Amino acid sequence: MAPSPIVDIHTHVYPTTYLALLRSRTEVPYLLDLPDKLAPPRLIILPSDDDLALPAHQRGRPIDSSYSSINQKIDFMKTHDITTSVVSLANPWLDFLSPEEGPQWAEKVNNELEDICSTSLKCLYAFATLPPSAPASRIVGEIHRLSLLPHIRGIILGTTGLSKGLDDHGLEPIWSALESAKLLIFLHPHYGLPSSVYGPRASEYGHVLPLSLGFPMETTVAFTRMWLSGVFDRHPKLKVLIAHAGGTVPFLSGRIDSCVQHERHFPENEGGKRGPKRGLKEVLRENVWLDAVVYSPTGVRAAVEVVGKERVLFGTDHPFFPPLEEGAEEWMSMGTNVHAVKEAFGDDEQAAAKVLGGNAIELLGLDVASDG
Ligand code: URA
Ligand code: ZN
Repeated sequence: MAPSPIVDIHTHVYPTTYLALLRSRTEVPYLLDLPDKLAPPRLIILPSDDDLALPAHQRGRPIDSSYSSINQKIDFMKTHDITTSVVSLANPWLDFLSPEEGPQWAEKVNNELEDICSTSLKCLYAFATLPPSAPASRIVGEIHRLSLLPHIRGIILGTTGLSKGLDDHGLEPIWSALESAKLLIFLHPHYGLPSSVYGPRASEYGHVLPLSLGFPMETTVAFTRMWLSGVFDRHPKLKVLIAHAGGTVPFLSGRIDSCVQHERHFPENEGGKRGPKRGLKEVLRENVWLDAVVYSPTGVRAAVEVVGKERVLFGTDHPFFPPLEEGAEEWMSMGTNVHAVKEAFGDDEQAAAKVLGGNAIELLGLDVASDG
């Protein structure tokens, strides 16, 4: 029997045109070339990376060719038996561009993603990117254009939305356009928490605190604000895939709900409940999908418990978290996440196979032909 397909829905790329844009900048985010031409440039991605007291080769993160090379992405897929990947631009997307620059960059990056996918023999699809600083009408225009591109299956969105977060009234036309175009929103963190939270010794721990804790809390707050503001009451068909197994949403959903039920600020609605008309439980089961980029069976089980086993999708976060050993072929981030899914389901191999690939194929209508 042929092995079940593995689909990676959380995998990123910085196209070379985008890296050129970062290289042209001197403010975060920017790309810093090192005097040693053989050493990869450094991506100064977080404000704390822009520390002039550190030597250049210790600032930010090394960005080698795996971040932009599609051949390397496909090699990674082959090494790890990934049948199909849904690639997305990595953070911070186009968040930092001016309203004038955003739309042309969105078009450029999205066309490049579509081209990459259309020449990839059915092994690549993409989540596109929006120009969040542009006027809403331009963003809606790009969403309409994207709905006609054959390999685009959704959009990746940062937690700041248009700049004020996901409870911003200004997002209404964008939610409407995404809902009618049936494009999935891949909600992904970038900004973490204020650096004061990490304390004066934070630099001793590199990116550990922002990535392991800042990212999931940022995502949790963003999604909760979206739900609290009634977005899913007004847009009942909106589809959201939340990165990193929903941040801490699965673990905290009961507490969030309880705080809403005890909040006098919300009047009771017809059902005798407080808060948004559609409760958190319902929204999690009908509008939300979670990726399985959580590195533990406990995390996968929590995700499955709140959204259901048909709504959890495998991902790797490639090319972030490369092996630290020189020349290693196998990526721990892949192995750990596959193992977490298999262990979470135990004997239910069919459910594990669906999380590893079947759920994404169904949700996104992927053609995973064997010539891929
Ligand atoms: N994963 C991402 O997608 N982005 C980061 O900046 C780090 C890990
Ligand atoms: Zn990611």
